[in-house]
Amino acid sequence: MTEEFKQFDKAPIIPIVTFNRWSFGLREVILAVIAGILLVMCLTFAGLFGNTNEKLANVPSASAIVGKRYCTDLGCLKTATRAVSLMNKSVDPCENFYQFACGNYKKVIPVLPNQGGRNVIKDLREVNEDRIIDVMEQPISALHDYAAERKLKKFFTSCNDMYSREKQRGLPILTSIIPALGGWKLLGTWDPATWDLNSAVKKVQSDFWVDALYAPRIAMDRSDGEKRIISLAAAGTGKYMQPWWYTSTYYSKVKEDYKKFIRRVGSLILRDAATLLDPPQGNATESEGLLEEFVNDTFTMESQIASLDQLGYDAWDDELYTKMSLGALTTETNNVIDWTGQLSYLFNTAGISASTKIDVTNMEYFTGLSEYLSSLPQLEMKRMLHNYLIWRVLESYVQEMSWEYIHANREIYVDLFGRAQFLGVYRYCFYLSEFYMGDALGHLYITQFLSKENKDTAHEISDNIRLALQSQISKTPWMDEPTRQYALEKLQLLDLKIGFPDWLANQGEIDDMYSSLIVNASDFFGNVIRMNQFRRAFWNADLRRRGTGHEEWTHAVYETTASFSMLWNEVAVPAGLLQFPIYDASQPHSSSFGSLGSIMGMFVHRFVDEWGKFTDKNGQIIGSGPGTWWSNSTVNNYKVVKQCVKEAYSNLTRTVLHPDDQWREVKVNASYAASSGIAWVNGVKLALLAYHDWSAAKSLDERLVPGLDMTYDQMLFLAHAQTACEVEDRWTAYMSAVYDGMDAELNVNTALGQLEEFSRAFQCKKQAKMNHAKKCQYY
Ligand SMILES: *[C@@H]1O[C@H](CO)[C@@H](O)[C@H](O)[C@H]1NC(C)=O
Ligand SMILES: *[C@@H]1O[C@H](CO)[C@@H](O)[C@H](O)[C@H]1NC(C)=O
Ligand SMILES: *[C@@H]1O[C@H](CO)[C@@H](O)[C@H](O)[C@H]1NC(C)=O
Ligand SMILES: *[C@@H]1O[C@H](CO)[C@@H](O)[C@H](O)[C@H]1NC(C)=O
Ligand SMILES: *[C@@H]1O[C@H](CO)[C@@H](O)[C@H](O)[C@H]1NC(C)=O
Ligand SMILES: *[C@@H]1O[C@H](CO)[C@@H](O)[C@H](O)[C@H]1NC(C)=O
Ligand SMILES: *[C@@H]1O[C@H](CO)[C@@H](O)[C@H](O)[C@H]1NC(C)=O
Repeated sequence: MTEEFKQFDKAPIIPIVTFNRWSFGLREVILAVIAGILLVMCLTFAGLFGNTNEKLANVPSASAIVGKRYCTDLGCLKTATRAVSLMNKSVDPCENFYQFACGNYKKVIPVLPNQGGRNVIKDLREVNEDRIIDVMEQPISALHDYAAERKLKKFFTSCNDMYSREKQRGLPILTSIIPALGGWKLLGTWDPATWDLNSAVKKVQSDFWVDALYAPRIAMDRSDGEKRIISLAAAGTGKYMQPWWYTSTYYSKVKEDYKKFIRRVGSLILRDAATLLDPPQGNATESEGLLEEFVNDTFTMESQIASLDQLGYDAWDDELYTKMSLGALTTETNNVIDWTGQLSYLFNTAGISASTKIDVTNMEYFTGLSEYLSSLPQLEMKRMLHNYLIWRVLESYVQEMSWEYIHANREIYVDLFGRAQFLGVYRYCFYLSEFYMGDALGHLYITQFLSKENKDTAHEISDNIRLALQSQISKTPWMDEPTRQYALEKLQLLDLKIGFPDWLANQGEIDDMYSSLIVNASDFFGNVIRMNQFRRAFWNADLRRRGTGHEEWTHAVYETTASFSMLWNEVAVPAGLLQFPIYDASQPHSSSFGSLGSIMGMFVHRFVDEWGKFTDKNGQIIGSGPGTWWSNSTVNNYKVVKQCVKEAYSNLTRTVLHPDDQWREVKVNASYAASSGIAWVNGVKLALLAYHDWSAAKSLDERLVPGLDMTYDQMLFLAHAQTACEVEDRWTAYMSAVYDGMDAELNVNTALGQLEEFSRAFQCKKQAKMNHAKKCQYY
């Protein structure tokens, strides 16, 4: 639930993110990162109707239902069924509300061996994926499917066509990639006299869309918020490898595993060259030594890159950027790489010249790289680089080939991370489709699966959350008047995006977007190459575009994570979240406020809290340092509140199984947890306030949900907790515990234990665990 958690989440728990996707994905990610501090929620929704028979026994008699007290419509019954299926009613809600609400979740939704963990939001995302996959698996109908949908289906079909992939094995690499890169020494097709460094790197980067030696990206120009600029950073090491693994002696096993992977894929290609090419290429007798040379060259080159680049794109310090022209970069790096040539080839329609200014991240890397390359004897430099470039492409496309190649990729993953977590090919193909044709998938999702009523009414939740926070702020004791006024104004300007951007619903626009893309249902590899070129054209257009891009959505619309961007002053709730049980117009409103409302509450709150205090009402960072619109007295008063919350979080622990097979307690880092803790508590509080205001305004008297015997307020808290239900396997639990300590149970219980409204709703006794003796004065 924290920004750091998101980083942890980025670790390839499930290697669904292929190198292609991962590497290219990063190219896009930079825009989003520069554009705003995105916080991806780790809350969520679950598989629903496990075994309900036993629960139905709890439903009140028909006569009670017929009495006006209970609702009997479908949405309401669905809510009751789901709520009961996740609960453990033998737990006292005042002792452990999370277990009361989610105690049965682990039984209904077990963790499968290929997953690190599940939670309600991830489950919902999977439901969305499966729906889209179902559509992509249906036969193509020229009459009914619109053009982009047909292309999606063809791409998906080609990707899942394992028969053709098995038949071809390494052939696509051997015929369409290696010759284009000037041949390969192992096959006896490489001629150092004609091989040219600049031309090979260009092709790897632009024709095959693989980062090698450097990563080009499109970023926002720091000096003009409406302009894009090319940004360069170091890149080109193994997809699963961390830079420090290459350089530290501690990781010798990892290094050997990685070399084994390189050797394995290299020998598969060699075998295929000898058996599938006509005439055959390569010589088995000679290749043994050449293969070792290939492994060594590649590894040496990557180690060199890794030792020059210990920063990568994780570093966002302004001082690491150097803005300079491509011509100047070429001269300053001794003309080893012709940077103008490289980037004018990639951005072939964007008018790039030697005077084009770019952002260089970590200039030392680029000077270091050219010094290293110049220091090598010419022939050795060529050999090493050519081997290295071939490997970059092989590693990148390894999952696009036959099973043996896919298996080699799985093997390295298991060697490095000790976990066999793999997705079926169809799910991998989904992610590829998403990567290449995300907007087409988004269009398909909103036209086929999004309830119009939900999209049209969900703003009632966000509008009321905003109002609730405004009325709360008018009374917040620790804010002084000027700060209060500013906060109110900032909230008024906050953009609450719900569902999807309008253009995404326009079929004509979607078809136009993909009109230049050719997809062949029986040529997967060719499709991937064409998709990459399509992307290149998109990048070219993107680089020339002006504007803040504020109208864009940084996440796919079928995502189930809400997000916020401080710099865009916006919260976005994607269409994927506008469904049962998060938000559904037909479910009891108390449940929608409890789930979507508390998610929104937490996010909206962030714009005026200790995070939001650094950006002004237009999303600009205040001053060059940590300036703030909070007054000094507000800053000081807040310290008291924060201290109180830190104390509330100070004695929390989790007991997790450590790698040495011992169960031990891990203490929660209270100063770290306090900040998100405040947002969590206030998120639920706002949901409750907003729900009360909303139902008062509508003079609505909701009827009770059958089978639960709970009031609306209780239902709201229940829905809140059931949005967070999670189950983790041992590794994930251990990692998250040592990382930030908190889990869903601690988050929910600590937040609700701090809320007077919760204790009142459940009439918790004074000594009850969920009724903290000391409650802090938040807002
Ligand atoms: C439900 O709670 C009871 C009482 O704490 C416990 O004994 C039981 O194991 C729990 N059931 C599940 C599925 O966790
Ligand atoms: C393979 O290499 C060996 C040793 O250099 C040589 O004797 C043999 O003739 C080569 N075989 C082919 C098919 O080129
Ligand atoms: C690997 O390559 C490096 C650099 O070219 C060289 O110094 C080293 O001797 C090679 N090692 C092996 C085992 O071939
Ligand atoms: C599609 O790919 C197959 C297999 O590569 C090829 O035989 C066929 O000609 C291609 N179709 C078109 C229309 O290009
Ligand atoms: C607020 O505090 C800062 C740093 O403590 C100080 O530099 C500044 O002068 C103070 N402003 C006012 C208006 O007191
Ligand atoms: C935390 O534990 C310490 C030592 O046992 C105790 O003095 C303190 O009151 C506890 N704080 C809370 C908030 O429970
Ligand atoms: C706890 O979190 C704070 C704030 O993020 C950090 O500065 C501190 O180093 C952390 N403490 C430990 C023991 O990890």
